[in-house]
Amino acid sequence: MTAKITIAIDGYAACGKSTLAKALAKELGYIYVDSGAMYRATTLYFLNNQLSWDDAETVRQALPNIHIEFAKVGGKTHTFLNGQDVEEEIRTMRISNQVSYVSAVSAVRKMLVRRQQEMGAMKGLAMDGRDIGTVVFKDAELKLFMTASIEARTQRRLEELQAKGIFEVDITEVERNLLERDRIDSSRDDSPLTQAKDAVIIDNTNLSPEEQFNMALELARTRIAAKIKRLELIG
Ligand code: DC
Repeated sequence: MTAKITIAIDGYAACGKSTLAKALAKELGYIYVDSGAMYRATTLYFLNNQLSWDDAETVRQALPNIHIEFAKVGGKTHTFLNGQDVEEEIRTMRISNQVSYVSAVSAVRKMLVRRQQEMGAMKGLAMDGRDIGTVVFKDAELKLFMTASIEARTQRRLEELQAKGIFEVDITEVERNLLERDRIDSSRDDSPLTQAKDAVIIDNTNLSPEEQFNMALELARTRIAAKIKRLELIG
């Protein structure tokens, strides 16, 4: 048994889930997995191959051909789809506008959830997404549910896109996309975005990244200490 824990971070779009998960993983020496990137890469595959995700047989045939991996490029983790670096492409509005529809397909979820569970089997991992604490790692020792005002989220996403050199998006389009994705992600039949009963809620509208990080790290350290204590009692 390991003293390492699983950290599951769920919440609405553009709440800073990945920034927090990444920072926690770095501090604790854990693996970080962006589960949203896997849904985004799957969406890219369907779009690039002009395949319909509404047709069950098409989806069944397509899924075995989708291989998603993560690898470091210049110190940063990039997403690879069938050996190709797609990190930049999966963040564009072309993907953001379709990803919630692809994520609602049960067969897609089944494949990606299995893959995510394999990645987390050894513990010592921080994963962010929409169903991590409720489906993927129901037994995660620390579950966080993040939220923030739509204004704060829109502003952050806009800055993120601009930092990547993507300027041809307007604020209304970004806001509309976030609200629409939240609506679809929260109302789909399979694994909708909901707060796990045992999740700690973090509303970061008025929190600095440092304040939020310190709060989450404190929680993680408490859970790790509790796990060590449990292991000592058993051992
Ligand atoms: O985290 P993100 O915004 O990059 O995620 C993109 C989409 O992927 C999100 O709108 C819904 C879907 N998603 C999901 O259904 N389940 C997850 N665990 C992660 C993401």
